[in-house]
Amino acid sequence: MSNSQFFSNCTADSIREAAAALKAGHLVAFPTETVYGLGADARNPEAVKRIYEVKRRPTDHPLIVHISSINELEKWAIQIPGYAISLARAFWPGPMTLILKRKEIVRDFITGGQDTVGLRVPSDPIALALIQEFEKISDSAIAAPSANRFGQVSPTSSADVYEELGAFLANSDVIIDGGSSSIGIESTIIDCTTNLPKILRLGFITKDQIESISGVLCDCDSHSSAIKVSGSFEKHYAPNCEVIIGAQNVHGAGFLALKDIKTPEEMFRLGSPSSVEEFARVLYSSLRAADHKKLKSLVVVPPEGQGLSLAIMERLIKASQGR
Ligand code: TXA
Ligand code: MG
Repeated sequence: MSNSQFFSNCTADSIREAAAALKAGHLVAFPTETVYGLGADARNPEAVKRIYEVKRRPTDHPLIVHISSINELEKWAIQIPGYAISLARAFWPGPMTLILKRKEIVRDFITGGQDTVGLRVPSDPIALALIQEFEKISDSAIAAPSANRFGQVSPTSSADVYEELGAFLANSDVIIDGGSSSIGIESTIIDCTTNLPKILRLGFITKDQIESISGVLCDCDSHSSAIKVSGSFEKHYAPNCEVIIGAQNVHGAGFLALKDIKTPEEMFRLGSPSSVEEFARVLYSSLRAADHKKLKSLVVVPPEGQGLSLAIMERLIKASQGR
């Protein structure tokens, strides 16, 4: 059991305390609209090192730097193309990460040695308040991966964070509770280092939205990129149970599908979302629920269509691989 501080009633004072903890080199897990992040001072190598230790994540996998507004972009990135500015204006604060050429302030311990940096302005009010407060006292920003152990399911509640990392956090680390994540899957990642935007990880912000805002067609190949995106490794977002994609009768298995689809006999319904958005929101908690119930397998009938449905499918394929 860890002794990390746990802020269930998040006040202005607790935000200040959490920002001070970051400044002192401790870790702070915090809510965002996508999933919970495990934050550290992006300019403190020792603090960032602990993120990798706690997550058991290979150190060549870069971290996203979370900033409070588009005004901070030029502090962390150079050679920002016009289309990236348009995307930032349209979708920040929100579930989108831009990969840009890094400025000197971004050191190798954040980027895994690459000359690019991932930047995101989250929209969750607690996340924004924490980043603003930390920027005020530190001249830095918050580096944060999802707050799960490497390869596991991303957390969408503070209880999930505790389940994933509680045993590995220290006394002076902090977990901030901000309820359930409103989107439920990680941000869309867009490589903005070439002439055309390229989607590296699908998410709530869709290819159509990116093309209509940037005014150019974008490349969408989240599997073949030379850039390291840990989500593009074989097994990821994976619960202990076997994830089976598509309607099938599996005796004793869990079942997740849109609410109009009936539960097959002798299967355990774990969720009945009534829209694709709700499907994304309950996806990870359903994967966790299957493990809590010690089910051997979980059958998921994915929603059809493009956009967010494809982002859900991307996660399911990785959750079902590499076992
Ligand atoms: O929604 C999200 O993006 C959440 C919340 C906490 O912001 N964060 C998140 O972080 O999902 P993480 O580390 O679990 O996934 C970020 C992905 C990683 O696969 C990482 O390799 C990739 O982004 N990434 C970060 N910086 C990059 C860079 N400079 N170039 C290419 N990929 C990068
Ligand atoms: Mg992750």
